[in-house]
Amino acid sequence: MPALTLAAEPGAALDAPPAWPVFDGSEEAGLSAVLRSGKWGRGNGSAVAAFEAQYAALTGATHCLAVANGTSALLVALGVLGIGPGDEVIVPPYTFIATVNAVLRFHAVPVFADVDPASLQMDPKRVAEQITSRTRAIVMVHMAGGVGELGQVLEIGKKHGIPVIEDAAQAHLAEWEGRHVGGHGALGCFSFQASKNLNSGEGGAVVTNDAAMAERAFAFHNNSRGRTQPGVDFHYEASGANLRLTEFQGALLTAQMARIGKQGARRLETAKRLDDLLAEVPGLTPCPVGRGCTRNAYHLYMFRYEAAKFGGRSRTEFLKHMGKSGVSASGGYTPLQDEPFLKNTFETRGYQFAYGKGLFERWRKKNDCPVNRAACGEAVWFTQTQLLGGPQYVDRMARALRAWKS
Ligand SMILES: Cc1ncc(COP(=O)(O)O)c(C=O)c1O
Repeated sequence: MPALTLAAEPGAALDAPPAWPVFDGSEEAGLSAVLRSGKWGRGNGSAVAAFEAQYAALTGATHCLAVANGTSALLVALGVLGIGPGDEVIVPPYTFIATVNAVLRFHAVPVFADVDPASLQMDPKRVAEQITSRTRAIVMVHMAGGVGELGQVLEIGKKHGIPVIEDAAQAHLAEWEGRHVGGHGALGCFSFQASKNLNSGEGGAVVTNDAAMAERAFAFHNNSRGRTQPGVDFHYEASGANLRLTEFQGALLTAQMARIGKQGARRLETAKRLDDLLAEVPGLTPCPVGRGCTRNAYHLYMFRYEAAKFGGRSRTEFLKHMGKSGVSASGGYTPLQDEPFLKNTFETRGYQFAYGKGLFERWRKKNDCPVNRAACGEAVWFTQTQLLGGPQYVDRMARALRAWKS
C-alpha cells in the first residue's frame, strides 16, 4: 500500500489543510474490488461485515452494525429501545438537528437538558431535573468530538433505570476514562457522513455490548428480518426499515480506517497549539471537556467569543476578520429550542392524535434553555480539516487570532 499522506494531491501546499476527503489507491482498489465482485449489497458481500469487525475492535464494543448514516444509527438505537408516542427522550439542545429529528420520527417528545456554559456539552444537573416518569432514554451527544460529564449522565441513567444512548456522530477516536466512546451506554451511534473524521460520503454505525440489542438492531435496519433469516422466510416479529450500508461504503471505510490514527494525532497537536495560543487572548476561551475525557476527537475545535472583552465588537466582526486573514471560522449552531420545526411538528396530525392540542406550549415551559441560547451567540468553530493543516497554516491561524484586538 502506498505511504499515507495527509495531503490528497501530491505537491499540494504543505501548509494548507488537505483537500477532504483524503484518499489514494487503497480506496480505489477497495471500490474496484466490490464493483468487480458484483456483490454490491451486504446481503451477499463481505466488505460491510469486514468493516464492522474492525470498527467493533476500534471501539472495544462487542457488536457493531453499519447503517446508512448517523441519523439511521439513532433511529436504530431508539427503535431497539422501543421508543414511541408518550415517551420522553432527554437530549442536549446544542447538537445537530438529527439528534432531535430521530426522536420526533417515533412521535416521542424530545426534552432538552441545557448545556454547561463553558463546555457546551449537556449538563448532568439539567438532565437530572428533566427526568420524569415518562423518560425512556437519555441521549448524550459527544459534541465536537469532546466528551462532557458522561460518567455523571451514566450514573443518572443507572439510578433511574433509563438507558443512555451515546450520539458519537462527531466523536470517532474520542475516549472516556481510557475507553473509546460508544460502548459506555446501552448503544452508541456514529456518522460517516462526508464532513466527518471517518468518511464514506454517507454512512453510520451502531455499537453495543448487549447481544440481544445487537440482534434487534440488525433486524430493525433490515426491514424486520433477522441476521440468520433465510431469504425465503417472510416472517416478521417487529417493525423496521431498510437502513443498510452498501458494500462500496464498507470498502471505503476499511481504507479510511488506515488513516484515522495519524489524522487524529495531527488534530490533537494542532488543538494543543490553539489552546496555548488562546491562553494569550482573554475573551477567546477554548471549550473544556469533562474530567474523564482522556481523548478528544476534535471533529471541531470550539471556543467561546466574549464580545465584552473586545470593546463590544461582535462575533460577526470577528468571524469576518478571520475570513479576511485566510482562516475560515463559523459561529456554529442556532438554538434548536427556538427553531420553528418543533412547534410545526407538534402541530402535525400524528402528534395531535397522541398528545392533544397545546403540546408545544406545555413543552416550551420546561425547554427554554437560556444557557444554550447564549452559547449559540458566542461559539466559534474551526473544522477538523483545518486542524490537519501544516505548521504554516497553524502560524496563519496564530497571526489572525493575535491580531484581533478591542
Ligand atoms: C451530533 C450528530 N448526530 C447525528 C448526526 C447525523 O448523522 P448523519 O448526517 O450521518 O445522518 C450528525 C451529523 O452531522 C451529528 O453531528
